[in-house]
Amino acid sequence: MKSFLSIALLLIAGLAVSIWIGFHTKLSEVTLPFDDDQNGINDQVVIKFSHVVAENTPKGLAAQRFAKLVDEKSNGRIKVEVIPNGGLYSDQEELEALKRGDVQMIAPATTKLRTVSPKFQVLDLPYAMPNHESIIEALNGDIGKTLLRSIEKDNMRGLTFWTNGFKQITTNDGPIKKPSDLKGQTLRIMPSPVLEKQFQLAGAKAVGLDFNETYKLLESGELNGEENTISNIYSKKFFDVQSHLTFSNHGFLGYAVIMNEDFWKKLSKDEREILSESMKETTEWNQTHSFEMNKEQLRLIEKQSGIEINTLTDQERKIWSDQWEPVWKEFEEEIGTELMKKMKQLRAKHGDF
Ligand code: LMR
Repeated sequence: MKSFLSIALLLIAGLAVSIWIGFHTKLSEVTLPFDDDQNGINDQVVIKFSHVVAENTPKGLAAQRFAKLVDEKSNGRIKVEVIPNGGLYSDQEELEALKRGDVQMIAPATTKLRTVSPKFQVLDLPYAMPNHESIIEALNGDIGKTLLRSIEKDNMRGLTFWTNGFKQITTNDGPIKKPSDLKGQTLRIMPSPVLEKQFQLAGAKAVGLDFNETYKLLESGELNGEENTISNIYSKKFFDVQSHLTFSNHGFLGYAVIMNEDFWKKLSKDEREILSESMKETTEWNQTHSFEMNKEQLRLIEKQSGIEINTLTDQERKIWSDQWEPVWKEFEEEIGTELMKKMKQLRAKHGDF
């Protein structure tokens, strides 16, 4: 009877201790992965991130990397849904969709932001930034900060800049070695008065069109050519429908990553921290690897196609740069003298022609 009583007492004590431990384990110590089907205390935060390029590009890969980092750091509670290839919205539409809050993030080419802030045209000036270092200095320094501040309106929050690389020229009517070789040709550009003026000075007609319209117009011959980075030329197979590629490095293509401001304001401090940390890591990765990616894809184009590639010499590039110098003067007022001065200083520091 005595031993029966001791066993019963032992069992009761054990039960009491387990209940006590159970109640005193904090919820935050239990990090169970978020269950998509679970409706409960913490609702999942979903960020729709729309962009127009392919997945195997500097922007496509950065967007995926950002989504993965956010997923890991939030333990699955914040989900970034990346929709590439203009699957949701074209270039023209995505900006309006972001302002309305139909998507929460976009990363348009900086060129496309001139409609929000004409200052952005400073990044489109021909031969403005002669090398990788000058681009990073411009984007991460004063020039980039001024630009991001200038779009903080219409429900937009500028987060950072991602890079793609230098633009090159492709055509089905080449070779293109000097500006006059483009005379009479019709080229696709991103809608931009700066770019239009540039090609006009070379005697060509440049038409501002959506990125995902380009391939079929090149294929049908309605366009002779276009300008873009190697990564966009490769991933959209423009090289398949063009006979010549001029490696000119004549302009820069990069992105401003933007979030809907109302959405940002509704996030908790922790959620914002997760997004900011993930964005910082992604930007570092993108700015380090994008140029390498373009080099690698140039090798793939050489391997996979018969396109004739002409690399401009420094002397030849100087001829293009001189031809395009009036563009700098023409857009000085719209861009603003202060910003123009900074860009001229940067160009001089990194060795202009
Ligand atoms: C283009 O329209 O050529 C580019 O903006 C595409 C992109 O986003 O890289």
